[in-house]
Amino acid sequence: MIKQLITGCLGLAIAFGAASYGLADDLPAPDGQALWTYISKTSPYKQWSYWPDHKGMQEGRAPHAPLHKVFVNKQALESTSAPLKYGAIEVKENYSPSHELKAITVMYKSKKYNPKDGDWFWVKYSPKGEPLKAGKPKGCIGCHGTRSANDFVLVHEFK
Ligand code: HEC
Repeated sequence: MIKQLITGCLGLAIAFGAASYGLADDLPAPDGQALWTYISKTSPYKQWSYWPDHKGMQEGRAPHAPLHKVFVNKQALESTSAPLKYGAIEVKENYSPSHELKAITVMYKSKKYNPKDGDWFWVKYSPKGEPLKAGKPKGCIGCHGTRSANDFVLVHEFK
């Protein structure tokens, strides 16, 4: 009887654990490692969409690479005007002219993270996902901030 009870409880605990782990909207903390786990495992960004006006491989400008792809999650796509919805993530793959992946730069709209500059959490990852720069880098904010009316986004225009 006791054995059955214990087995039952264990089963329930595992079921609850799986349910909470499986919640797709369980957003990560603004942290380089946590965000990488989210975009590579919890909600793999390669399965997301593109902005309708910025699909697939595109030519880019310095300091980013000459070629890039920008993937956007559901919260970003559902944002029809600036500012974007909280939870919005944009993942930019940066490629060399020979299509070699050089870096992955990410913008993540995280509530109360940095209200002064649009609450964006910025990260530059190596192609393997090591955070090289993360947080509120002055460079990222300074340049993207030229379009603060468009909520710091440069590849897609909000009306
Ligand atoms: C000197 C200007 C400049 C700096 C600095 C800069 N960016 Fe960008 N960023 C751009 C431009 C221009 C684009 C548009 C795409 C392109 O030309 O590559 C862009 C696009 C992006 C995008 C795609 C979404 C969007 O905004 O349209 C992400 C994500 C991004 N940058 C992240 C970063 C991160 C993270 C940093 C800092 C580590 C950074 N950027 C620093 C100019 C800059």
